[in-house]
Amino acid sequence: MEQAKQSVSSDMAVIRQMRIQDIPQVMNVEHASFTVPWTSEAFTNELNNNRFACYLVLEMDRRIAGYAGMWTIVDEAHVTNIAIHPDYRGQGLGEKLLAALVKQAMSLGTQKMTLEVRESNEIAQRLYRKFGFEPAGVRKGYYTDNQEDAVIMWSDLLKWSAHLS
Ligand SMILES: CC(C)(COP(=O)(O)OP(=O)(O)OC[C@H]1O[C@@H](n2cnc3c(N)ncnc32)[C@H](O)[C@@H]1OP(=O)(O)O)[C@@H](O)C(=O)NCCC(=O)NCCS
Repeated sequence: MEQAKQSVSSDMAVIRQMRIQDIPQVMNVEHASFTVPWTSEAFTNELNNNRFACYLVLEMDRRIAGYAGMWTIVDEAHVTNIAIHPDYRGQGLGEKLLAALVKQAMSLGTQKMTLEVRESNEIAQRLYRKFGFEPAGVRKGYYTDNQEDAVIMWSDLLKWSAHLS
């Protein structure tokens, strides 16, 4: 996605399940977002072979601007990743995408959601706090590129959603 920052209305976003043919565009988001990006094979494996996996993409004008994924096991969901391409950040799209993931998790009977996030990634942590995620522990040296610690966060979705109404 070689282009200037896109000014968008998040109302124009379309969120849907990720398909195999989306992976090249998802890789653009991935490479622009992470120092240790997943490979396209990893995404293929998730979509083809992991029955616990659920991946969503967010499209603007039929271009994939972001994606998010989770594994749901019994009543718990583990967010594997969320990213919005830098051209589209800061306009409410990450929040919209995470809301869709949470909604899907709850529709599958999930009551609690967890994730790991870099200690230095305050932007993502702020986003997660909006969905009731709270720090619950640390994985020391979790990230292999710089041995950064991961903050483990949990959200009690039932409690959090009760506060909304
Ligand atoms: C984290 C990420 C998905 C957020 O996407 P986004 O579309 O820019 O986020 P939104 O515009 O929806 O903002 C939602 C909330 O995130 C936080 N946030 C977003 N940008 C922020 C910034 N520049 N500074 C501080 N907080 C910020 C705020 O809490 C914001 O809510 P608010 O607008 O009410 O303050 C995006 O920054 C990203 O892709 N980062 C790289 C990948 C990554 O770190 N993923 C998380 C891995 S654990």
